[in-house]
Amino acid sequence: MTENNIYKNRRDSLIKSMGKGVAILKGAPTQTRTHDTEYPYRQDSDFFYLTGYTEPGAACIIDPNNSDHPFTLFVLPQDPKKEVWTGWRLNFEETVRKYGADQALDIAGYESTVLTVMKTADKVYTNLNHEQEHQYKILDQLRQVRSEVQRNGGGPEGLESIGSIVHEMRLIKDDAEIALMQKAADISAEAHVKAMEVCVPGLHEYQLQSVMESHFVFEGGSGPAYTSIVGSGDNATVLHYVRNDAQIKDGDLILIDAAAEFGMYAADITRTFPANGKFSTAQRALYEVVLKAQKAVIAAAKPGVTFQELHDLDLKLLVAGMVEIGLLKGAVEELIAKESYQDYFMHKTGHWIGLDVHDMGKYIQAGKSRVLKPGMVLTVEPGIYVNSRSKAPKKYRGIGIRIEDDILITKSGNKNLTAGVPKEISEIEALMAHNK
Ligand code: GLY
Ligand code: MN
Ligand code: MN
Repeated sequence: MTENNIYKNRRDSLIKSMGKGVAILKGAPTQTRTHDTEYPYRQDSDFFYLTGYTEPGAACIIDPNNSDHPFTLFVLPQDPKKEVWTGWRLNFEETVRKYGADQALDIAGYESTVLTVMKTADKVYTNLNHEQEHQYKILDQLRQVRSEVQRNGGGPEGLESIGSIVHEMRLIKDDAEIALMQKAADISAEAHVKAMEVCVPGLHEYQLQSVMESHFVFEGGSGPAYTSIVGSGDNATVLHYVRNDAQIKDGDLILIDAAAEFGMYAADITRTFPANGKFSTAQRALYEVVLKAQKAVIAAAKPGVTFQELHDLDLKLLVAGMVEIGLLKGAVEELIAKESYQDYFMHKTGHWIGLDVHDMGKYIQAGKSRVLKPGMVLTVEPGIYVNSRSKAPKKYRGIGIRIEDDILITKSGNKNLTAGVPKEISEIEALMAHNK
């Protein structure tokens, strides 16, 4: 299937679900970093999923009521003076050809076209995941059109998130998406191996970050899929630690949660390893609890199992392990019922992953936990975090552990996309033997 057909098939599926509704989507806005400099541009995921378009300044209308031009792409027009600074733009004809649009028009005409197409639609779908300005604007346009058509009949009754249709589509990955996710996973796994290989006490956390992020880009990724977390010692117990500026000490465990984006698709990997290449007894005890739970949850992830069942299994094993090593005291069931584990494990077992690292798609459907199906990709990421202020036995304080892999559900079970980076204690110690 050619690339254009992939996007066209997605738009066709969308059209089938929209009935007489129209999709009016805005590309992601550019974001100012400081004064007159911007963050690197990243297209809105829903917009990209339906169009393949990655340049800034765009909008699109997918209108089943317009039989001549069901797919209109609005783009920035050619402007030689600006293009000298930001790169050449395709003209409208070239845009039509490259993206399989029925027509490409100047973005300047987008707003007046919106008002026209809304009149023939019975519902308006739009992307609501970014840019408040777009959301206010489209509500106002809807109000204008509704006040006008009231006297003529017809017109849209409501505004709905395009996500109600597209996020369900995005939840099941096709072969092309899986290939991109595997590539993102591979280069991320290689980067984790590199970080373990270069790690010695005395380095700073940001030096491991730089080794990894450099590999992401060297291998053609667009960079990290989310802000890299490199936490040594007590920093590993801070879930979203991103300062990455501490010096790594002998005896620290280091938690790295970092992965690449490739072809717009994210990977998400966490590994935890000893700075000096050798787990201490306490580190090993905690690590083995997390690893056992992680492997068991991965083994259980297959079609027919619910998301909640995976979380329940994870909790049961983590809590049983915490009791066994003396981190928690009491009966496992009771500790779970009272959520006593929350001091040490305070997040969910995983999440969907795809174009967004925390990808779209419902976790609960009709009040029930989602049943896994082939083509879904989720992370499995149990952890135990015992911060230095905790009342836990002293030997466990200042240790944070998470182990995270990206799991593709297949017909027969699953495939671990991120299996390329070791997580067994013996494998990690062998890889880091240079430290001794
Ligand atoms: N890296 C973000 C997460 O693991 O969910
Ligand atoms: Mn994750
Ligand atoms: Mn992660």
